[in-house]
Amino acid sequence: MRRKLAAGNWKMNGSRASLTEVDRIVAAAVGLGIDVLLCPPATHLVWVRERIGREGIRTGGQDCHPEHHGAHTGDISAAHLADVGATHVILGHSERRLDHGETDALVAAKVRAAWAADLTAVICVGETLAERRAGDTLEVIARQVEGSVPAGAAGHNTVIAYEPVWAIGTGLTPSEAEIAEVHAALRAQLHRRFPAEAEAIRLLYGGSVKPGNAAAIFAVPQVDGALVGGASLRADDFVPILAALDAAP
Ligand code: PGA
Repeated sequence: MRRKLAAGNWKMNGSRASLTEVDRIVAAAVGLGIDVLLCPPATHLVWVRERIGREGIRTGGQDCHPEHHGAHTGDISAAHLADVGATHVILGHSERRLDHGETDALVAAKVRAAWAADLTAVICVGETLAERRAGDTLEVIARQVEGSVPAGAAGHNTVIAYEPVWAIGTGLTPSEAEIAEVHAALRAQLHRRFPAEAEAIRLLYGGSVKPGNAAAIFAVPQVDGALVGGASLRADDFVPILAALDAAP
């Protein structure tokens, strides 16, 4: 059985004032039968970790460099994330792929660096609106998974997030049937590449997950949780999403 996972991606948002939101998220998450992950800006990881205290909520980074250390001004290594208590790192987010020109090969190198630091990689894939309209969705995602998920992927070190680029921050979401189609294809691809681990790797949906649509999305087969951006910043939005995941079939 895959344990469900709700991950909050703060992106370049939040502040010290957001720590009161963390308190409320922690209070609500304690006692739920799901995993919860918070990925604040790297500058705030220590504060968020301290605020969570001993509770079982995990913290993660939003990116890492493919090397462990060295002359890379402004970059952060997987080892640095691990050093401040992070257990996860989001890699290959479409905002990194688009804003920073990250290729599948670079994402795969970052995933290997994350694994070397004992971090679980949350690897993002997803099609643009033009690719969906052209009927290329499954092909694009298969190619991204092939190139971004290295050999060695397993349930303990890898989570895959399906995030349609056009659904991120837009309020638009694919239909439940469209999400189901992609998640089924992802699971089948994992079975072909990693037969022993395919059933253990969690598949998240991400892109405009809100309290109002969470329950419907979590009822879709093969959806093991969500990667939540905007709605993870405020407890009023994130806590109902956690509750919906906890109540999901
Ligand atoms: P969103 O972002 O929930 O604000 O659409 C999701 C993500 O990019 O991870």
